[in-house]
Amino acid sequence: MAPKICNTVILELELEDQLKARGDLHNFNGRESAAEVAQAVQGANGLLVFPGVPIGEELLAGTPDLKVVATTSVGVNAFDIDLLTKHGVAMCNTPIVLNDAVADLTMAQLIILSRNLVGFEQYSRSGAWGRREPQPALAHDPQQKTIGIVGFGRIGMEVARRAHSLKMNVIWNDVFGEAPAGSPQGDYRSLDDLLKESDFVTLHTDLNPSSFHLIGERELSLMPSSAYLINNARGPVVDQKALTAALEDGTIAGAALDVLEDEPPDPEEPIVSLPNVITFPHIGTATEETRRAMRGLAVENLINVLDGRMPRGIVNPEVLG
Ligand code: DGY
Repeated sequence: MAPKICNTVILELELEDQLKARGDLHNFNGRESAAEVAQAVQGANGLLVFPGVPIGEELLAGTPDLKVVATTSVGVNAFDIDLLTKHGVAMCNTPIVLNDAVADLTMAQLIILSRNLVGFEQYSRSGAWGRREPQPALAHDPQQKTIGIVGFGRIGMEVARRAHSLKMNVIWNDVFGEAPAGSPQGDYRSLDDLLKESDFVTLHTDLNPSSFHLIGERELSLMPSSAYLINNARGPVVDQKALTAALEDGTIAGAALDVLEDEPPDPEEPIVSLPNVITFPHIGTATEETRRAMRGLAVENLINVLDGRMPRGIVNPEVLG
């Protein structure tokens, strides 16, 4: 019997055709309650989902033949991996295809901050230039400054490559104290030393119990008052209340955030309107090419698991033996 594939993702026709060629495709919304989602996917062998689709005990009890959950994201903090592993379900994600997009955003934020491009743009847009008002103070070159990369994995290393092209000094920290083979030049530092030495600290760790609030009041107090923090990883890696206070009282100079502790944030969330912060609505991968590649890899992963092959993006390979 053809496997049942349940899908929440809006797909290109060719990707939908690939799934239809492999099984019975059922599209569902995925934004319903956990009970409704569990009902919608009963009997499924494969799920293609975006992060946030509730996959818990109830759903897994109703899908005893489920083999794979394929998400269109690299981050899997929204899924209970231990639970999926316990049920023998492969959790697939989309690494590598988004490295460039996230690293590009990081460098764009770094240049926006160091050159005060938001301040100059607002000066121009407000008509202040035309009125011959005094311009904002001169900004700073990124060249010869130090970038501290926390999380020296695939995205962190792409950031390092770009930082070298800006003639920056690269230092990094990772729970793995050794640079992986083929990594770009950069010197290891303990987290505390990295925070003290960096002009820009950029976060590229995944979110797990040990990285929750990795950057809090103590860590922010180690950074120079002229330094900037960039977070394109996950919001809860930073204690947002502590960061807000550090930005308000001048402990650090500014921040660029593509992620927040709650997404979307409360409309009254103070950090998004601070003058020394730029925020984006989690758009690190938001390009046609990258999102297309992520959807393509998610479909490929799902089909590979159904076919008994090891997928390229797999978080719990042990379930595939
Ligand atoms: C990811 O893939 O994890 C990005 O943050 C988009 O969700």
